[in-house]
Amino acid sequence: YWLISARLMSRWCLACLKRCLLNHLHTTGSMMGATVEQFNCAKSQMGTLKKDPGNEAKLKIYALFKQATQGPCNTPKPGMLDFVGKAKWDAWNSLGSVSQEDARQQYVDLIDSLLAAEGPVVAAQPTGSAATFDTLLVSTEDNITTIRFNRPQKKNAITVEMYNEIIKALEESGKDDSVITVITGSGDFYCSGNDLTNFTKIPEGGTQQMAKDAGELLREFVKAFIDFPKPLIAVINGPAVGVSVTLLGLFEVVYATERATFHTPFSQLGQSPEGCSSYTFPKMMGNAKASEMLLFNKKLTATQACAQGLVTEVFPDSSFQTEVATRLKAYAKLPRNSLTLSKQLIRGTEKERLHTVNDQEVERLVERWLSDECMQAIMSFFQAKAKL
Ligand code: COA
Repeated sequence: YWLISARLMSRWCLACLKRCLLNHLHTTGSMMGATVEQFNCAKSQMGTLKKDPGNEAKLKIYALFKQATQGPCNTPKPGMLDFVGKAKWDAWNSLGSVSQEDARQQYVDLIDSLLAAEGPVVAAQPTGSAATFDTLLVSTEDNITTIRFNRPQKKNAITVEMYNEIIKALEESGKDDSVITVITGSGDFYCSGNDLTNFTKIPEGGTQQMAKDAGELLREFVKAFIDFPKPLIAVINGPAVGVSVTLLGLFEVVYATERATFHTPFSQLGQSPEGCSSYTFPKMMGNAKASEMLLFNKKLTATQACAQGLVTEVFPDSSFQTEVATRLKAYAKLPRNSLTLSKQLIRGTEKERLHTVNDQEVERLVERWLSDECMQAIMSFFQAKAKL
């Protein structure tokens, strides 16, 4: 019944709001039974509730609705294994011989009180994130919040601004009503990792300051993933490089197109692993395979990454988006709290460990960024570009 009522939200219209307000003004209080029109308005308004009112209130709403529309409960009691049916039947039956008129009034009063608890009525907002982002597209639909990297012309390389926006988007998504959060990329790449121009913008405090600031930002960025409360799903739409790969151990599920590749060229750049990969990769794939990636820059195909446990499943590129969308929609229909609590159980035991690993990786990287090896590698990247 709750779902049916929620669907009514989409049909909810301004005319009805006006009618409801007028009816409301003309209602002289709970002593008089509500009219059928007031009852119907309350029914429509229920769909505008932003929060699930909880099982107890939902059963009461159900019972009052049945009493108001059908009168006292006289249907057979459901079997004891039909828990939901029995709870509903009990709630309806408990209203005894309350008249239909009184039931309508109680229904209207209950919906009014639930709406009042949510604050003043505001114009319907399109679903989506409250904040606007320059480097991301963030939207919420069908209980799924999607955070899409949106610098396709730069292969979704992560600038300082983008790191901050991802942290913000995760923070908001962790608190919104969505059931799962998805991260994906625009264009042909998932992400090309840290934007190397981040190293060329030297602040007033010099390179020491740059490394320190970058370290703090990275620590906060990875922390946002470690602490993210809901199931996090990566939809890898193309090649992935650097930090966008190392973070994958912090996702619940990783779906990849067969076109995706996974590359962490840290030593090539005089750097060292981050995103807790120095811990999650050996755990997932064993030391030998993790070292091939993190020390010796081995680029994996999607199929290899799947065999090594980094990727959950690989899909043909032609059907990737539709097949993944079907899975995501099904996951987003699962009970929200059950998913969150189960994630906490799975991750909870190693959360402290992950924070420690993050701190250690950042500390090492801050040193690396100031090293000659790293400076040389970054200069070579830009020199190679300049020669083209
Ligand atoms: N940092 C900064 N700029 C990047 C970038 C990065 N990580 N990745 C891609 N870009 C830029 C390119 O410089 C290029 O910019 P331009 O159009 O102004 O010249 C643009 O994005 C497109 O990239 P391009 O190199 O032309 O595309 P490609 O398909 O030939 O190669 C990559 C794509 C990702 C393989 C290549 O750009 C690359 O190796 N980037 C560096 C990846 C990296 O080392 N990341 C850090 C890991 S720690």
